[in-house]
This record gives sequence, C-alpha cells and structure tokens, in this order.
Amino acid sequence: MKAVNIGILGLGTVGGGTAKVLQDNAEEIKRRLGREVRISAVCTRNAVRVKQLCPQAVVVTEPTDLVNRDDVDIVVELYGGTSVAKDAVLQAIGNGKHVVTANKKLLAEYGNEIFALAEQKNVMVYFEAAVAGGIPIIKTLREGLAANQIQSIAGIINGTSNFILTEMREKGATFADVLKQAQDLGYAEADPTFDIEGHDAGHKITIMSALAFGTPVNFDACYLEGISKLESRDIKYAEELGYRIKLLGITRRTEKGIELRVHPTLLPESRLLANVNGVMNAVRVNADMVGETLYYGAGAGSLPTASAVVADIIDICRIMGADSDNRVPHLAFQPSQVKELHFLSIDEITSSYYLRVQALDQAGVLGNIATLLAQQNISIEALIQKSVMDDQHAEMVILTHHTVEKNIKQAIRAIEQIPMVTAPVTMIRMESLNG
Ligand code: HSE
Repeated sequence: MKAVNIGILGLGTVGGGTAKVLQDNAEEIKRRLGREVRISAVCTRNAVRVKQLCPQAVVVTEPTDLVNRDDVDIVVELYGGTSVAKDAVLQAIGNGKHVVTANKKLLAEYGNEIFALAEQKNVMVYFEAAVAGGIPIIKTLREGLAANQIQSIAGIINGTSNFILTEMREKGATFADVLKQAQDLGYAEADPTFDIEGHDAGHKITIMSALAFGTPVNFDACYLEGISKLESRDIKYAEELGYRIKLLGITRRTEKGIELRVHPTLLPESRLLANVNGVMNAVRVNADMVGETLYYGAGAGSLPTASAVVADIIDICRIMGADSDNRVPHLAFQPSQVKELHFLSIDEITSSYYLRVQALDQAGVLGNIATLLAQQNISIEALIQKSVMDDQHAEMVILTHHTVEKNIKQAIRAIEQIPMVTAPVTMIRMESLNG
C-alpha cells in the first residue's frame, strides 16, 4: 500500500517527539498498519531542526502553504492556542484533509464548529493527545466504554498542579516556592496561569464530559478554581485527617443536570487517585456496567504525547477509506444524537466540605458555628480545634456531610459575621469517590 503523507504544524516538544516516534518505531508501525507513515512537510521557522528530525520533509513557514499541499493527507496541528491553530485546522478540514491535534483549548472552545465542519467535509479530527497526554482516555471513553452509561469522571489532569501539590505536601513548602521550582524544572510555563488556575484541566474535563454524556462541548459551563490560594496548613490538616488535596477535574451526571468543575479537592488517602503524585496524571471513570476503572500515566512530555499523536495517525490511516457512517463519531455519539443537557452552576452542585475557621479563643464560638451550619441543614462529620495560634486565637477545622453548595456558602457568610471570627473562612470541596 502507498505511504500516508502527513504534514506537521509546529516542530516543538510534541512535534519533535512525533518525528522521533515515527522514525524510531517505523518498522513496528508498518507491521501494525501495513503501510508507511511519512512526514512530507513541516511548517516551522526552524529548518535546522527539520534537517535533524525529518530531513525528507519539505519546510514551509506559513500554515496555509502546508494545509494546501497535495502531498499532505493528514495535518497534525501542534501549535497550541486558538488563533493561528484555529484558522489552520478549519482550512485543512475545508481542503478535505484529516486532522490530528493535541490542542485542548482549541477543542474545548471551538470543538463544536470544528467537528461540524469535519462532518460536512467527511474528514476525521482526532485528538487523543489533547487530554492526559499519553493516557489513551479519549479512545477509552469513545470506544472501550461504549457499552456503558457513564456516570462520572474524576481526573488529575494537570501535571504541573499535581507536582506543586505533591511538593507542598511532602516538603511542607509554600505554593510560591514550589511554583518557582516547577518553572526552573521546565514543568510550568513562565506564565503558569493556565496550569495553576485550572484552565488547562478545565479544557480537558470539558472534552471528556462531552464524550461521556453525548453533549456539545460546553467550556462556558465549566467552573474553574485553581490551586494558587491553597495554603500549606490546609494540606497538612487534610493529611492529619486522612485526606490528600488534589486539583481534580470532575464531571458527573445527576438527576438535576451535569456537573462540570475543576477545583482543589480533599480525597480520602486510601483512594488510588489520592496517591497519584508528581507530574503524573490519572483519570477515574465510573460507568454503569463496568463499574470503576482507573487510567494512569504521563500527562505531558514529548514522547508520551507523541505516542498519542501517532496512535491517532494510525487510526485515521486505518479508516480513511470508510464512509462516515462507519467511523467512530468525533464526540462518541452519532452527531444527530448529541444533545444539549442542563449543566449545573457551581452553586447547584452537591458536595461535602472542609472548612477552616479562625476565631478568638472564647467560649461560645464553636456553638455559634454549629448553629449556623444547622440553620442551613448542614450536618457536621468532624469538628476539631486544630491549634491555638497564639494566646487569643484558635483555628477550627470542620468537615461537613453532603449539602448543596449554595447552602454552605450561605452558612460561611453567616459564620464570617460572628464578631469572634477573625479571618475569611477557607472552604475546600471533598469527594469520597464512592460510586
Ligand atoms: N501543562 C499541562 C500539564 C500539560 O501541566 O499537565 C499539557 O496539557
């Protein structure tokens, strides 16, 4: 069979990895696919890198010049971002070319438009590398779990944040110190906002939510809260109580609607997800027939991400001749069956909560707090005075049972009005991951 030609937009970390995987595993890939995959063109300003990594490829410097080439069957978009990448991807699809992309932001924000055009043009847009790097979670959700109604997904899907939280817990370091270390090690970007404020995880859980529940991609509905305000003592108190704090992306089907959120979360330390450390990623899926399954691996990095990119290239090569009715749908469900569902606002979700309250160490404070929680019908699971910070102040940690978020916020507002409470209340959501 004749070789498949691919054109790569961007030869950075993942692009370089893709060239290396295609070269180092060329024989193995050919054994699996029955044909050769050849990089015919690369769009980059670094011609020297092309010479080193894929010398047979033509070098162009404008994306248009790559997506218009007759000798490109599949366009691999590895630019990231949504300006140049969006135009290039839409143009490639418009030209009838299949697309592989690692661009979670592009798909979370413009996926509906991109998939609609792809269906119209009868081409495939594959994106395994966009979520959790080397973990094949897109294929799992779209194909491996196709017999199930998926109930919930909870994932550690930002390696940078997980590295920071792990170091804060293991070394007792502050957020600012560990962030600097992550930047020095090259994990976090110079502007780390996307990683630490939950945007990157939000893009990924938004894509998984659409695949799980058969809805359009709905990033606007995703609640985002990052880790930048977490204090080391909350990590320490959580640990003393048998919990770890992780930045989780969560999506869940409930009777009232779909939950879609990213925030720091207390997890019981006995849970596998609580023990995923450093830059590693893991995704837990709960589905009605199979029950709980867990997927673990590298969420970023040149070769793990390239592994996902090349797997997509191989998948497309295998089915590019098939008519669209016989392909795996982009969003897992037939396009006509992708349905708008109600997404819950963060105030409508149900969770249990960790509260830390700083107050004057005087009689009656705890009683007041308990009364205000009871007024919102919130039941307390544990309540401990953690430390006397000085002669006059005490710090209390309260774990609640499940309640609707707007009730806990109402209770917190009332607690902060108690004259003896001396600082804003810290609130962190908890997940038991039971079913
Ligand atoms: N910056 C991401 C992370 C990897 O830290 O996990 C790419 O999505």
